[in-house]
Amino acid sequence: AWDSERAAEIIAELKSHEGATLVILHALQEAFGYVPQDAIPMIALALNLSRAEVHGVFTFYHDFRKAPAGRHVLKLCSAEACQSAGSDALAARAESTLGMTLGETRADGVVSLEPVYCLGLCATAPSAMLDGRLIGRLDATRLDALLVEAQR
Ligand code: FES
Repeated sequence: AWDSERAAEIIAELKSHEGATLVILHALQEAFGYVPQDAIPMIALALNLSRAEVHGVFTFYHDFRKAPAGRHVLKLCSAEACQSAGSDALAARAESTLGMTLGETRADGVVSLEPVYCLGLCATAPSAMLDGRLIGRLDATRLDALLVEAQR
């Protein structure tokens, strides 16, 4: 769980690092599993940056989470090769089956559905990753099986 004292220590340890904003964001996410909104002003103050600058870095990288992840994390590739292979329709199918929007964690905490920008499996697009396991050649049938697994 988030612990602002521990977060302040991490920030203090890393603030003189080169590229400190990114280094700190990564360290916080590693320590807590996400980077809550409260961390942004703490980092800005320590590095003498504006909140907007820190927030800009936070939102530029898709890896940072605003909230704790669900029990399962399903990532759907939304980059070019997967898009041309039909990933948009699959993402819409996942959203409607799970009753949630891409980029969110469902309110019951069971599943996070996240876009990802290339999983390195373009040759077998569309691609996905469930709890760290890579899946290529995704189609509606395979997706439906993943969605069952993701809701366990
Ligand atoms: Fe989807 Fe590369 S674009 S795996």
